[in-house]
Amino acid sequence: MEKNILITGGAGFIGSHVVRLFVNKYPNYRVTNLDALTYAGNLENLRDIEDAANYSFVKGDITDEAFINELFLERQFDSVIHLAAESHVDRSIMDPLAFVKTNVLGTAILLNAARRTWKDYSGKLFYHVSTDEVYGSLGQEGFFTEETPYDPRSPYSASKASSDHFVKAWHHTYNMPVVISNCSNNYGSHHFPEKLIPLMINNIIHGKPLPVYGKGENVRDWLWVEDHARAIDVIFHKGRHGETYNIGGFNEWKNIDLVQLLCSIMDRKLQREPGASARLITYVTDRAGHDLRYAIDATKLNKELGWKPSLQFEEGLERTVDWYLANKEWVNRITSGAYQEYYQNQYAER
Ligand code: NAD
Ligand code: TYD
Repeated sequence: MEKNILITGGAGFIGSHVVRLFVNKYPNYRVTNLDALTYAGNLENLRDIEDAANYSFVKGDITDEAFINELFLERQFDSVIHLAAESHVDRSIMDPLAFVKTNVLGTAILLNAARRTWKDYSGKLFYHVSTDEVYGSLGQEGFFTEETPYDPRSPYSASKASSDHFVKAWHHTYNMPVVISNCSNNYGSHHFPEKLIPLMINNIIHGKPLPVYGKGENVRDWLWVEDHARAIDVIFHKGRHGETYNIGGFNEWKNIDLVQLLCSIMDRKLQREPGASARLITYVTDRAGHDLRYAIDATKLNKELGWKPSLQFEEGLERTVDWYLANKEWVNRITSGAYQEYYQNQYAER
């Protein structure tokens, strides 16, 4: 079976893992990676597969309606795996409209382009990659299931909730085959160092303060990014259309406990005296509206489609730390904007 897939946001953290998996695992699929190469996306993440015969890259913005319509007409995709988004909660607090534009409007433009191009829905699928943050915040007990009512509370989660609703609306109104997955916090290689884990690793390397928001008691549920990519593969191929699947590894950590664990791993790897990295921990003003706890119940995905995470957290964290220690230049280049300059010149705006 052949497929002609558009993957959006493939130059970002999760997207690059999804593109790599699909390009390597399915040589008979054509994969087009569409990405605007914002601060969060860079093509060095995909250098190992960029020459593959079944892969191509298109630089472009999902909020540019005319361009998106033209691209769909030109390439006649039969499937979309949509990951392009503004993804950082702190940035959404500073600049909410950027999130409305990309996450809400961009998603609706993609949905509409697919609807206009797909004359019939046989063999078609629009897969929206979303977050567990749409469900809001948990207290000390309980889990998010697929039945949990939406209750987004940050501009980021509100924009993702809204885009989920648009995807469902296209299914109910136009019968478009869609599937949505809502995943917990990811970690692993190629993660932009503004998010908790890569930021802490990078600051420990450079002996900089480790900013823990509030009392560090907020809880997140962490999943190895390659396990997320494997889940997307399974849901793309076997998920029931019109359904939502929660993805998570039953792996909750209080922020402060996670930072302490990272500090002890880093002390060992950097051959620093035990406790050296933890002395960098600095409690800072809490994030506005900081959600207390996220925890995913991924039973449906496990029971229906047989997916389960492959890696223990401690092992994944070790591998992540090793990757950042071996790729310090990657961090320097993406945080200095050097990538952007290079690739913006290489791929002129369409
Ligand atoms: P990321 O910020 O690392 O990557 C986003 C990518 O989208 C970048 O390559 C960026 O250049 C691209 N992009 C942004 N705006 C664009 C636009 N207007 N047009 C085209 N491309 C654009 O994000 P990520 O962490 O890889 O997240 C990917 C998706 O997964 C997002 O939809 C996010 O909501 C979702 N998600 C993330 C997590 C997580 O823990 N990171 C968890 C669950 C779901
Ligand atoms: P983050 O990685 O931004 O993901 P999200 O907000 O989408 O869950 O943050 C994870 C947790 O870590 C969250 O509770 C906020 C907290 N945090 C800090 O304490 N310090 C930091 O510097 C960052 C970036 C996050």
